[in-house]
Amino acid sequence: MRHLINITDLTVEEIEELVTLGEAMRARPQDWRETQRGRILGTLFFEPSTRTRLSFESAMLSLGGSVLGFASADSSSTSKGESLQDTIRTVSSYCDIIAMRHPKEGAPIAARMTSNVPVINAGDGGHNHPTQTLTDLMTIRREKGTFEGLTIGLCGDLKFGRTVHSLVLAMSRYAGTRFVFISPPELRLPGYLLEELREKGIPYEEVERMEDVLPQLDILYMTRVQRERFFNEADYVRLKDTYILTPDKLALAGEGLRVLHPLPRVNEISPKVDDDPRAVYFDQVRNGRYIRMALITKLLEENP
Ligand code: NCD
Repeated sequence: MRHLINITDLTVEEIEELVTLGEAMRARPQDWRETQRGRILGTLFFEPSTRTRLSFESAMLSLGGSVLGFASADSSSTSKGESLQDTIRTVSSYCDIIAMRHPKEGAPIAARMTSNVPVINAGDGGHNHPTQTLTDLMTIRREKGTFEGLTIGLCGDLKFGRTVHSLVLAMSRYAGTRFVFISPPELRLPGYLLEELREKGIPYEEVERMEDVLPQLDILYMTRVQRERFFNEADYVRLKDTYILTPDKLALAGEGLRVLHPLPRVNEISPKVDDDPRAVYFDQVRNGRYIRMALITKLLEENP
């Protein structure tokens, strides 16, 4: 059975096809309105979410399918002590595909073992978030027309930011990618990812100041400092406002820059930046609906 646990579970060809399908769905959503009638998506969210859960639901409803699920661990039998594997075995009897978010890294792998239907990882702890990456990739292709030859700056919490980890894995498969990691020393990209980039010979630099590197970037991927993953509130408070993108700073960047953010934003992008044509994070939100329509369609076709 086909699941989506890590972004590299999809080949680059499959990603290209999904983005193309997502574009077709965005252009003419009416053509897909009845295509999954009778199919059911289960959304199992053991951690808070606005965009990911609602975009999955919107995607399935836009395809004519139905949705069931829960939005917090407290409202499921987990709170009575049920194991994740038993919950998944149960829910997979009620639906045709599952989107799951869980605070434990690797939980979707355990889920996959007992599920009778495809499992989509909608975020596992500070590890991975492959469907946000599909959203990011659709946005990058719409804005830049290609995945190749791009210099990508990732800024903020590169240690705990799961969307960062998945995007780095995804973009490291394209020719000519160069990464600029912008973070305080405490929030650097995990060693296993830096190691992988070194092994593959992919150029990267790690810097602390955003201003110095802005002029060279094609993409600036801003992220929130992940408060819920800190052991110590004082560290969070000290680091949370390290980076704030303002119109003054954006003036240092080229016209071709595009600013992405998986959202939610806290303080790291001033709302004054929102009207700049280079700020595409709210259009990125829209893409999240269509790329998830494409993904659900693909996985249900492969697991009829
Ligand atoms: C991200 C997440 O949950 O990891 N949000 C999202 O799904 N768009 C980013 C975040 O919470 O900072």
